[in-house]
Amino acid sequence: MFTVAVLISGAGSNLRALLEAARHPDFPARVIVVGADREAAGLAHAEEFGMPSFVVPWRGAAEREAWGDELNEQLAAWSPDLVVLSGLMRLVPPAVVSAWAPRLINTHPAHLPEFPGAHAVRDALAAGATTTGASVIVVDDGVDSGPILAQERVAVLPGDDETTLHERIKPVERRLLIDVVRRFATGELDPAAIAAS
Ligand code: GAR
Repeated sequence: MFTVAVLISGAGSNLRALLEAARHPDFPARVIVVGADREAAGLAHAEEFGMPSFVVPWRGAAEREAWGDELNEQLAAWSPDLVVLSGLMRLVPPAVVSAWAPRLINTHPAHLPEFPGAHAVRDALAAGATTTGASVIVVDDGVDSGPILAQERVAVLPGDDETTLHERIKPVERRLLIDVVRRFATGELDPAAIAAS
């Protein structure tokens, strides 16, 4: 069975959607572990689904490399086929990218390359965009700059604030993420071909 590790920082609503999809017997992948950079609220979803979890606490930018090495050790112990950053609000260091990419993917609440970074929804609103979106990408050493695996547009509606817009983007993100995981698991998405592209 194709195995997936999911890394989070926050509420883990996308994680939960993936856990729900992956427990369906017809889904070709299984989540085997959930990791976080702090005691994230979303770890409760892992617990509810009887999923093992780990925390590698973020100790500041000066310790980013050591944090990445520790994260790599934890992930290597589980040896997943795919690592999903699902709201992990850290730039993973190069050692993590080189260990896992292109089997290291990230969900992002914007239509990349528009609005990369940690405040994509806020930035779209501040720019007066009439549409934004959701993207699933391969992680590289840049900020949300890796190959795009799936993306879809979401309209910005009059009166939207950061919360309402983000809540409308998230269901799209979930659908794209679940589909990308499925495509990796079935071989429709080929890591070797992505790496060569
Ligand atoms: C998601 O919208 C995800 O794309 C975003 O954080 C949210 C996590 O929500 N990630 C980024 O902005 C990364 N640059 P969740 O914890 O409820 O799944």
